[in-house]
Amino acid sequence: MNYGVIGAMPSEIAGIKEHMENVQEHKAGSLVFYTGQIGQNTLTLVQCGVGKVNAAITAQMLIDKFNAQAVINTGVAGALGKDVKVLDVVISTEVVHHDADMRLYKKYPPFVDGFYGDPTLVARAAAAFEAMDHGNSHCYLGKIATGDQFIESSAVKADIVARHNPLCVEMEGAAVGHACTANGVPFVIIRTMSDNADEQGGMSFDAMEKVAAKYSSNIVVAMVGGK
Ligand code: ADE
Repeated sequence: MNYGVIGAMPSEIAGIKEHMENVQEHKAGSLVFYTGQIGQNTLTLVQCGVGKVNAAITAQMLIDKFNAQAVINTGVAGALGKDVKVLDVVISTEVVHHDADMRLYKKYPPFVDGFYGDPTLVARAAAAFEAMDHGNSHCYLGKIATGDQFIESSAVKADIVARHNPLCVEMEGAAVGHACTANGVPFVIIRTMSDNADEQGGMSFDAMEKVAAKYSSNIVVAMVGGK
């Protein structure tokens, strides 16, 4: 299997790159793609930068230039679900743009009513979490909301929850899901909570980013390392 793996920040790809063998580097525009092996699978790993446009461009490049047959987006997020805590993991059954009118995607291309994580990839990510040493962390399967802002306000958080009822918020997942869905390529988003998207969000993010990013990358390595 040929996987494309996307993280937005250096911390979100470092823990995967260190497990790759026979790594070859390819530069394309401002991006550096690393193709190599983990176990029996080939993956192309890339740091896309923050936000939806960067993520969508990069997903399309993984599909067109690197023949990705499935795309995994890994990283951190702000917790929105009532029970979801810092260092818990959320795996996407669905992703939504919280800052776009999702109804437009039904009426115009890509003519879909939503962007849904591939059930097989979701199940494999959940199984990888269960099999690893995850301390007090819990894993939730559900909806992830994406937008081009870092959320650090209880009011903004409440508004996103009222409109979409997601488990967490981040800045790339729906763009990856959107690009993959438009191309008929399966995808999954794996996010570990770095903060609660409230007034302390920025401080919590700074303290927890690296450890949370590593949790998500451990899941990716376990998923891709198998057959
Ligand atoms: N990624 C991690 N925490 C986030 C937050 N609070 N808002 C948006 N993206 C995030």
